[in-house]
Amino acid sequence: MATNKLMLITGASAGIGEEFAKQYAALGWDIALTARRAYRLEKLARDLEEKYKVATIVVTQDLARANSVDTILKEIKEAGRHVDGVVNNAGYGLPGTFFNTKWKDQAAFLRVLYTAPIELTHKVLPGMVERGFGRIINVASLAGYTPGSNGHTLYASVKSGMIKFSESIDAEAKAAGHDDVHCTALCPGFTWSEFHDVNGTREKTNEMPDWMWMEAEPVVEAGINACERGQPVVVPGAVNKGLATLSRILPEPIGRALVGAQSRRFRNTE
Ligand SMILES: NC(=O)c1ccc[n+]([C@@H]2O[C@H](COP(=O)([O-])OP(=O)(O)OC[C@H]3O[C@@H](n4cnc5c(N)ncnc54)[C@H](OP(=O)(O)O)[C@@H]3O)[C@@H](O)[C@H]2O)c1
Repeated sequence: MATNKLMLITGASAGIGEEFAKQYAALGWDIALTARRAYRLEKLARDLEEKYKVATIVVTQDLARANSVDTILKEIKEAGRHVDGVVNNAGYGLPGTFFNTKWKDQAAFLRVLYTAPIELTHKVLPGMVERGFGRIINVASLAGYTPGSNGHTLYASVKSGMIKFSESIDAEAKAAGHDDVHCTALCPGFTWSEFHDVNGTREKTNEMPDWMWMEAEPVVEAGINACERGQPVVVPGAVNKGLATLSRILPEPIGRALVGAQSRRFRNTE
């Protein structure tokens, strides 16, 4: 008989999602892990069970598939559990520009990074409200604050959308008096993970100075703590906080010029 609350983490097979799974398990949460690479999820689940004595559920699923959210929730229900918390974390950068990429790839990108997390939130929120408890963390990005750039066309718009979405969910829960239902957008800057290998920018981003980078551990810790406090948005790390502030106070043409000059260092337009 499970006694712990259950945290569902998307993109749990690597990087920031894997770190979320470890930190929530260390806090005593049972963990539902989902991503496409089953062998990674199975191994992580075994490690969490052994080290933290928590229960795990593994659901291998491609979030780009139209019915993926329903399939994940069905498997959790069949395991006799409900979702007390969600980390909408799965994501990647789609290399290229809008005119040299295929619509099917852009549509899959929108589904994985935008509509699937929003659908998942819509489907778990009523249960959270009914039980009077819920934690939702949407992994957005510092890119949600900075101007759009040449390459990875929809990334900044989607991450900006996830920040606004999180603020709205949090405001709606608070206004309705659901004080223990919290929603937080976590906005990391450059973070060590597989992200830059997947989007083909590792060689370029290796040239970025060390002080621009954070490990996944403090990034995730900042997200969990902010969500516990009921803070709707958090930017982890002093450098990232400074950049987020700068992007809000700089006149827009200057911000665009700066990002325009720098984006070839972290965007892949091929
Ligand atoms: N690293 C950074 O510098 C950085 C900065 C700002 C924001 N972020 C955001 O942080 C989040 C996590 O990224 P990360 O840095 O941890 O990258 P990562 O190490 O590449 O991990 C990405 C995760 O997303 C999963 N994923 C990708 N496509 C998927 C799909 N179609 N269906 C299901 N799962 C999928 C991957 O699992 P499978 O391949 O096994 O499916 C993996 O578990 C993303 O939303 C990213 O935008 C990262």
